[in-house]
Amino acid sequence: MKNTDLVKRDLSVVWHPCTQMKDHEWLPMIPIRRAAGVWLEDFEGNRYLDAISSWWVNLFGHANAHINAALSTQSGMLEHVMLAGFTHEAVVELSEKLVAITPSGLDRCFYADNGSAAVEVALKMSFHYWRNSGEHGKTKFITLGNSYHGETLGALAVGNVQLYKDTYGPLLMETFSVPSPDCFNREPGESCAAYSERMFEHMERALAQHAEEVCAVIVEPLVQCAGGMRMYDPVYLQRLRAACDRYRVHLIADEVAVGFGRTGSMFACEQADISPDFLCLSKGLTGGYLPLSVVLTSEAVYQAFYDDYGSLKAFLHSHSYTGNALACRAALATLELFERHDTLAANRRLAGAMAAATAGFAEHEHIAEVRQTGMILAIEMVKDKSQRLSYPWQERRGLRVYEHGLANGVLLRPLGNVVYFMPPYVIEPEQISLLAEVAWQGIHKAVAD
Ligand SMILES: Cc1ncc(COP(=O)(O)O)c(C=O)c1O
Repeated sequence: MKNTDLVKRDLSVVWHPCTQMKDHEWLPMIPIRRAAGVWLEDFEGNRYLDAISSWWVNLFGHANAHINAALSTQSGMLEHVMLAGFTHEAVVELSEKLVAITPSGLDRCFYADNGSAAVEVALKMSFHYWRNSGEHGKTKFITLGNSYHGETLGALAVGNVQLYKDTYGPLLMETFSVPSPDCFNREPGESCAAYSERMFEHMERALAQHAEEVCAVIVEPLVQCAGGMRMYDPVYLQRLRAACDRYRVHLIADEVAVGFGRTGSMFACEQADISPDFLCLSKGLTGGYLPLSVVLTSEAVYQAFYDDYGSLKAFLHSHSYTGNALACRAALATLELFERHDTLAANRRLAGAMAAATAGFAEHEHIAEVRQTGMILAIEMVKDKSQRLSYPWQERRGLRVYEHGLANGVLLRPLGNVVYFMPPYVIEPEQISLLAEVAWQGIHKAVAD
């Protein structure tokens, strides 16, 4: 079969996410036949280095032998059983493991099957906790500018991507939005820590003003990924934790994208030495194999729902595939790989290689900044460097980098004007060099006129 055969069939029946389908009149879709390690391979044998871990989910490479074997054993035993009234080994083992490795005080696991659903669970659980505690006035959430928490209606409401707000606004609950501590906007000479600290004043003010009606503050710890890999200092999370305690407001850490070693520590919150009240995890949780998400919370939150049936305090949220046995087994196998390979230490070396491969990029007249937090490196293309003026979105400069990447065997999928690397942890230093070389050429092309 040729690439075009499958694409033709696809275009007559499939509707793809995050895509203006009309683009495919001129932008070829890439049908993938198989994958191994960091490589995706199409039907004609062309290979593409998966520099973005297939939307940030893949940690230990495609077709990973250890995860494959674990799934094969699990599928011979039990593929799935509903989690209401029933349980199974994989979900119990995984929960024990997650409680052990996440920041202290997170002792209960509630499962769903994607990142957005985890966010919905955390929002509802926080609201319902206050309601069960007799605090009926707490119904709102505080969010950061430029944040992204997924695309179901609750998750969209607490996100701040303008396009989504403009389009779906009438369907979304109202939230309080506080300017992001995004260090791209710091003054020349100002440190990221000083800027993050300064920006916390907005949060402090919002809490002081609205705490009575606020259930929780939700943040993406350290990196606002979908919002252009914008980064901030851990000091912001420290201040936020202390303020949430002071104002009796929950802290929801959405580590769907940054959890599991992405930022250099197993969980981003560790860098601020804090524990949130709710921790949302998904994506890398199963090593990129199967949809699964989990919200971890404290025993105190759990106890607020624990009562006689007639009190009607039980949490109301369920999905058919909650705690799917195959997905839980893939997650356990993924966590075993972390232990076997001392992944965090290896990632420090890989992060160093990513920094070295892009050293000097920031000198380019259309690159405003190269920023990095662990295994996330982002390159900000700008129209005017001195004024930090972005290219208009209509020019789709990032798309030119995407096209150049594909023509040269690298899958890069810029977020607007931001080219980024977020590769699987099994990438090798020479593959990082290839990635950087192709990105560099792509950026040159993208800013050429
Ligand atoms: C921080 C964050 N939260 C939530 C989500 C939503 O996850 P999903 O796409 O699995 O619904 C994403 C997805 O990119 C994300 O980056």
